[in-house]
Amino acid sequence: MGPRSMSNLALKYKAVRSMTHSLAAALSPEDQMIQSCPEASPVKWHQAHTTWFFETFVLRPFFVNYKPFREQFHRLFNSYYLSLGEDIPEKKLQSFSRPSLEEILDFRAYVDQKMERLLSQTSDEEVCRRVLLGLNHEQQHQELALTDIKHAFFSNPLRPSYKSGSLPKERAQSALELRWLNFEGGLTEIGRTSNAEDALDFCFDNETPRHRVHLECFQMANRAVTCREYLEFISDDGYTHPGFWLSDGWNMVEEAGWEMPLYWERNSDDETGWRVFTLRGWHGLSEVLDTPVCHVNFFEADAFARWRGCRLPTEAEWEFVADETPLRGNLLDTGRLHPAAANGDGVEQLFGDCWEWTASPHVGYPGYRPLPGALGEYNGKFMSGQMVLRGGSCVTPADHVRATYRNYFHPATRWQFSGIRLAMD
Ligand SMILES: [Fe+2]
Repeated sequence: MGPRSMSNLALKYKAVRSMTHSLAAALSPEDQMIQSCPEASPVKWHQAHTTWFFETFVLRPFFVNYKPFREQFHRLFNSYYLSLGEDIPEKKLQSFSRPSLEEILDFRAYVDQKMERLLSQTSDEEVCRRVLLGLNHEQQHQELALTDIKHAFFSNPLRPSYKSGSLPKERAQSALELRWLNFEGGLTEIGRTSNAEDALDFCFDNETPRHRVHLECFQMANRAVTCREYLEFISDDGYTHPGFWLSDGWNMVEEAGWEMPLYWERNSDDETGWRVFTLRGWHGLSEVLDTPVCHVNFFEADAFARWRGCRLPTEAEWEFVADETPLRGNLLDTGRLHPAAANGDGVEQLFGDCWEWTASPHVGYPGYRPLPGALGEYNGKFMSGQMVLRGGSCVTPADHVRATYRNYFHPATRWQFSGIRLAMD
């Protein structure tokens, strides 16, 4: 990698690492040790685990005579890399009082210092590839830290806010009418070709290889489904009518007692009878009626689509449309931290606001090969029982998402900012 690319990589390293620091700065050491649901991790753990990634995959193999910060951390902050020959540590981390936040911040500073030195001395292609992966990994954990702290604060009886102040009303507060856009489809291509021209151009292995797909004609909604529309589904007995639901979803409705999206609560103070918990505390549902509904899982998204006589888009349809759509939206850099109402006369909200569930399972594209070694565990082993989501959310770093990006979660997952885009044949 050339000296210019190396200095850009070093700058990117600094920027991403300091973003983690500023996102955590609003939280006390006590806030940072909470894990309120099995999917989540304490913010302090996110800070340590992202640092562990650089120590394990970059410094240990490539920094001459590297002395690890604490040998115990190698096991403690591994998350799922079984081929590193370690047991997976207990996922339940509620009692995570030690190591202290101070010690973890020291770990971050120690690794940063070594990384800066390494980046100023090397131009090794493999080092650069791993650093880029580590930075994209850290950005994923920045988003997770925000979704996890939202759940932690919702679980606290005091219901604290992550950020003070009400949601800014910077977008249209009246509903953008739902319109259907027609797409011819035909033979097209999706996925990424790794681009050797720009050394800092990054994609995850599951976005490759680029390959041909055939699409029938389809229609896609011009915007995401709003809270107002979802409220109609609830009022029309959406959660009590098994005919709208996939069998696995209906079993879970009965078992878990779902009646509404996560973070909705009945409240007589609001004219709608509901309020919604956000990273900025409670808002009456009437204040966010025309914003995208979020924190619904795949089963809820699918049931809503059936109720409307529609379906969810496939990921190939989604990418076909996104490929022609400018990459802008309500992402983390807006600072809003909650979906916003749509405006505009094109395909709106594809990027940002909330991740959109697709009808596609997370499987390898034709010709997919995971990365060699332990890093091959990054995406490759999660290709069973997970559905693909596209487009990023209001807590996704803006330079982290793209048209080919494939996020994935179990279909019952609700704690992410996940919402609904409708499609039709
Ligand atoms: Fe991770």
